[in-house]
Amino acid sequence: AVDMSTALGAAPIPSPVLTASGCSANGAELEPFVDLTAIGAVVTKSVQLRPRSGRPTPRMAETPSGMLNSIGLQGPGIDGLLADDLPWLAERGVRAFVSIAGTRVEDFAELAQRLRGVPGVLGLEVNISCPNVESRGEVFACDPVAASDVVSAVRAVADPAHPVYAKLSPDVTDIVSVARAVTDAGADGLSMINTLLGLVIDPDTMRPVLGGVTGGLSGPAIRPVALRCVWQVHRALPHVPILGMGGIRTGLDALQFVLAGASAVSVGTAVFHDPSAVARVHEELAVALAQRGFASLRDAVGFAHREA
Ligand code: DOR
Repeated sequence: AVDMSTALGAAPIPSPVLTASGCSANGAELEPFVDLTAIGAVVTKSVQLRPRSGRPTPRMAETPSGMLNSIGLQGPGIDGLLADDLPWLAERGVRAFVSIAGTRVEDFAELAQRLRGVPGVLGLEVNISCPNVESRGEVFACDPVAASDVVSAVRAVADPAHPVYAKLSPDVTDIVSVARAVTDAGADGLSMINTLLGLVIDPDTMRPVLGGVTGGLSGPAIRPVALRCVWQVHRALPHVPILGMGGIRTGLDALQFVLAGASAVSVGTAVFHDPSAVARVHEELAVALAQRGFASLRDAVGFAHREA
């Protein structure tokens, strides 16, 4: 059998397939369908310091090739996560990769601080790329300086045992410069990509479908964009671990991300049609690697960059 073990930064995980933030609540919804202890980790919905109700409804729209959302970081806040969701995961032995979000650098730092030493927490995904904010100027990941300010503040106070991954946005002209900036600022890895800003108009009402007008596009529509980001960043920064995501639905989709340079992948939108998608992608990826003669997942990471 193929050795599927990998790591997030220095934290070992037995499977390279994780959930994607925001797509499976915080694990409980998938529990009837998937052995959560066997997957790489549950990546939790981005948490903020205080509870938030999010943007106006409707907040989800399907398109033929992807899904548009304008949730606006709805959630219970860090107190709720620490009281309910994280203990629920820890009691079951499920690894939690905790996504944090904020509007100020200090918010992110305080969240990282509060997550120090929390049982079951494997590491942090720093969401600096949510497209559903009031103004584009608030998307830290669209500016290398703002992005690195957040990452260095988080790295300074986070649990030293927690790898810190920065989640990047595809809505930039040069993702490599953002990747370089946040790695220089101390990121242990990169999560790529968040959703791509989009719009759907209802031809009957002739108005935007979403209450918040624009939203983040996910699913198969963005897979080639995500794969291109992973490829470009791995080429420029081959030693930086990448958690790849964007429209992964099958083992062969995941394989493409691994060959482009991802050492782990997240499955997000696909779980809405197939709640067992995370476990299925793991199995399909293992078969695909074996068929291609790989003894381990690690041997395949970045393979597409090697001379034929
Ligand atoms: O598409 C997204 N929607 N990306 C995020 O980072 C957050 C989420 C939301 O809550 O709006």
